[in-house]
Amino acid sequence: MKALILAGGRGTRLRPLTHTTAKQLIPVANKPIICFVLEQICAAGIKDIGIIISPETGESIKKVVGDGSRWEAKVTYIFQEEPGGLAHAVKTARDFLEDSPFLMFLGDNLIQGGIEELVSEFKGGNCDAIIQLKKVKDPRQFGVAVLGPDNQVLQLVEKPKEPPSDLALVGIYLFSPAVHAAIERIKPSWRGELEITDAIQQMVSSGGRVQARTLEGWWMDTGKKDDILEANRVVLDEYACYEVNGQVDETSQVGWAG
Ligand code: DAU
Repeated sequence: MKALILAGGRGTRLRPLTHTTAKQLIPVANKPIICFVLEQICAAGIKDIGIIISPETGESIKKVVGDGSRWEAKVTYIFQEEPGGLAHAVKTARDFLEDSPFLMFLGDNLIQGGIEELVSEFKGGNCDAIIQLKKVKDPRQFGVAVLGPDNQVLQLVEKPKEPPSDLALVGIYLFSPAVHAAIERIKPSWRGELEITDAIQQMVSSGGRVQARTLEGWWMDTGKKDDILEANRVVLDEYACYEVNGQVDETSQVGWAG
């Protein structure tokens, strides 16, 4: 099994932060987001990893990640000339992916608890795809899924004005090679991109077995400024340990100052 990390795109939504760095390199608790992603992929036993990079930020991603030996992984960089969409990125990575099943992980997403269970479930089953979902308050800015009784995916829509459910697509997907034929059948969306959401919908419509799992822990789509701040808070809360050796009065709070 291979993995594909998407670290291309322009990161325009995070400007001015991304004038100087790629959004996948923004540190959370002092560690670039993409390093958390690599750790989770390697912990799930996947060591053959392709990373999609763009002309704007590719070199800085390479500098941070290197050849992957830090995680005992093999990293292959795949250059995507234009941010043509998530499905376009998969198309660009076709030579690297060959006919292998693969995990796709958006390089600016962070989830609690890793992906080991999801990956082993996919390996042990016979699905064409498994997608990771999370209940959110405002699903309009995400891909949104409608599920049947056994967690099978019935419908998917990208950034709907009127969301048909509150289940947002987290940027983590498992695919059999059937996804490539589905990508060949889709057209660019209203935002001019080849959407992976449309490709998965295409698999559903043509009778493919697409399942969903809903995440209970936290999920951070760090594509936005407020999410970066929230990601820092949550990750620090989880990992930072400190001891209080003294009295704390009622008007004081003990916290993390970095
Ligand atoms: O964050 C979850 C959402 O990610 C999902 O709910 C949506 O269904 C999915 O389409 C995606 O939406 P975004 O509009 O937020 O994707 P964004 O353009 O921010 O790109 C996500 C990652 O993929 C980011 O690390 C940049 C990279 N990327 C993006 C594009 C468009 C590429 O590597 N190549 C591309 O062409």
